[in-house]
Order: sequence, then structure tokens, then C-alpha cells
Amino acid sequence: MQSKRRILLIIGGGIAAYKCLDLIRRLRERGFSVRAIMTKAAEQFVTPLAVGAISNERVFTELFNLDDEREIGHIRLARDCDLIVVAPATADLLAKMAHGQANDLATSVLLATDKPVLAAPAMNPRMWLNPATQRNVAQLKADGISFIGPAVGEMAERGEAGPGRLAEVPVLIDAIERRLAPRDTAAMPLAGRHVLITSGPTHEPIDPVRYLANRSSGKQGFALAAAARSLGANVTLIAGPVALPDPAGVTVVRIETAAEMLDAVTQALPADVAIFAAAVADWRIAKPKSEKLKKSAGSEPPALKLAENPDILKTIGHRSKDRPRLVVGFAAETENVVANAQKKLKSKAADWIVANDVSPETGIMGGDRNTVHIVTRDGVEHWSDMHKTDVAEKLMVRVAIHLGQQSADIA
Ligand code: C5P
Repeated sequence: MQSKRRILLIIGGGIAAYKCLDLIRRLRERGFSVRAIMTKAAEQFVTPLAVGAISNERVFTELFNLDDEREIGHIRLARDCDLIVVAPATADLLAKMAHGQANDLATSVLLATDKPVLAAPAMNPRMWLNPATQRNVAQLKADGISFIGPAVGEMAERGEAGPGRLAEVPVLIDAIERRLAPRDTAAMPLAGRHVLITSGPTHEPIDPVRYLANRSSGKQGFALAAAARSLGANVTLIAGPVALPDPAGVTVVRIETAAEMLDAVTQALPADVAIFAAAVADWRIAKPKSEKLKKSAGSEPPALKLAENPDILKTIGHRSKDRPRLVVGFAAETENVVANAQKKLKSKAADWIVANDVSPETGIMGGDRNTVHIVTRDGVEHWSDMHKTDVAEKLMVRVAIHLGQQSADIA
């Protein structure tokens, strides 16, 4: 049996520190042992008592504590583990690490260790984007420290949003697992492949508060991203506005409009595979208003003039430079599902089209299940009704087989 993997968790002083309790619990469920060091600032957010109770281990806080030093010196603390995780890694902690300071237990251990270190930053977006923090991060990366996050989203401070949230616990755990077992993923069928996936609807602004949208939930695209990741791929998921958390181990780029999605897709190239599962709005408002449209008594409702959005799948399908080896589109149809998909295969220069019937009675749009038909130049495969996660897994296995066959043909 594999011996317990040992994590030394260094908890920095930020509001996200409370998430460490859940992180410790989940790590222990997976068979890790977790020993924690807390900075003075961290103790303002969670108590050593709570961390000790959840980890079932002694919590270390003081550098100059004779009892602690007699029991386990800070040098041994730094070495008696398989991985050091710094979460939340605050701007201050990163600055100290980058400059080799050692004026408390956390920083002394980080300076004294010979173990790999994974930092999960969490701070206000302006602090994260500040050139000083970015310099420190670049230095730490050059020194071999790995990073996970920060995630993009709402901050604890009202009205603040941007990059700075602590990565979600499943994402942290995935990063920890990968940092500890990098060899495992190398044997996976999609190891070393970059898979690009679009997902969700797009929102096309009418004015600062209103937008055009559709009912896409993003579930199928997010399931595809998770399935590709579980087969070892490097995955970039470009997602419109949906209420789904980032899949673990996946690079997620959140956008709103079709134009932003096209930009993000182009920037993410090159990729081995691109799967366009997003329900991109065909039209946007030609000239969105910069002020909120007002209704006034007796006047006509405003006419909304539409302009056509770029077709992202078609643009990438027809690309001569950097075209992914496999381009897969989705076709949501309400009639003549397969015939329409065959037309799209040609017009959009896709390699495969995954077609489904989204008539309201099917419940597919927004639902958990899907019935798809895989249309390729060689024919059509009809798959039975299944959960969207099963569709995702089956499709990614098919992708892996296809790439494997292509590589064999090239060799
Ligand atoms: O033409 P239709 O919207 O049915 O095509 C669906 C396929 O095209 C999907 O793969 C969708 O992600 C993609 N698409 C796109 N950009 C658009 C419209 C559709 O990438 N503007």
C-alpha cells in the first residue's frame, strides 16, 4: 500500500483562509496527512484550534517556540512532507518568498525546504495585477515554485471583481495531485495534447443592463472539458456566462460576447483539438447604447437593429495557419437534425459535427441528458440517450482514438 502523502499547508492571512478548512478535510478524505503552519495574519481569519481540529495534527505558528522546536524543529518541519502548499498565498507572503525573507515560521520553512512548493494566490485583483506582485510571481516561477490560480470572479469586497479569488478546493486538490504524481498523467491517452473547448451562451449587450442571450447552460461543454482533462489533456475552456464552477485542472477563460469568444479562441491557439460546444448568438445589437434605454410615455418601443456575429467554428475550420488537427462543431437543431448537420460539416469546414435535437419537448437545452448523432465525412453514428457527462467521456475517448490513429498514419 502507498504510504500516506504528506502535505505541509502554509496558511496566509487573507479572507480566503477559511477555505483551508474545507481543503484540509477534502485532502484527508483522499488519504493525505496535512500539517499546517499559520502566519500571524492567518490567525485573524481562522483559529489554530479549528485548523488543528480538522487536520487532527498540531498547528505551528511560532518560530521562536522552544516547545515546538524541541518536538519538531523548523528545519524538519520544512522537510518532513512531500509537498508544501501555500494557500492563500497573499501578496505579502509572495513578496517575502520572492526576496528570501525568513522573519517568521512560514517564511523560514519556505526558505529552508527542499520540497516542491505550490502557491495558490488570493488577494484583491489590483494587488494581484500590481507590477510588484507580478514581478514577484515571475521570480518565484523562475525559482521553480508552481502556481494554481488565482481564479477570476467576485471578491469579498463589494463591487470588486477580477483575478484574485483562491482557486476552488477541487481545483486545488487536482493541482496537488498533479504536482505529486506528474508521471501518472504522462501515460494518459490525451497527455501532451491541447484541447480547446467553447461552452455556454454569449451575452450581447443592448445597453449597460440588458442583453440578448439564449438558454444554453454550458453543461455539455464543461463536461467535455472535465473529460478531456481526465484523459490527461491540457484543456482551455472558453466559457460564456454560466453558473458552473471551473472544472478542476482546466484553464478557464470567461467571456461575454461572441467577439470576445473569437478573440479568446484565437489567442488560445495552437491546439490539437477544438470543440465548439458554445451556443454563440448569431446576432448582436449593431450599436449597443452606452446609457440605459429609457421608456417614455407615448413613444414607440425602440427598434433593435442587429448585426451578424462572427462564426467562430467557421473561422477556425477555414483557417490555414494553426488549424487544429480535429475541429468539432455542435449543431442544435429542431428539425432535419442529421441533414442540417451534414450541411454544416461542409459549410463550416468541420471534421465532425455532434448534432442534437433541441426541440423544447426533448429537454436537452439546460437539461442533464443528451441524444447525439456524430456526423463525419465517413457517415453518421447514432448514440443512445445518455447523461451529458457520458456523452462527454465517450466523445473524448473517440477524440483520443482518432488522434492516436492520425499519429500512427503520420509515423
Ligand atoms: O450554425 P449553428 O449555430 O447551428 O452552428 C452550430 C455550431 O457552430 C456550434 O459548434 C457553435 O459553437 C458554432 N458557432 C460558432 N459561432 C457562431 C455560431 C455558431 O462557433 N457565431
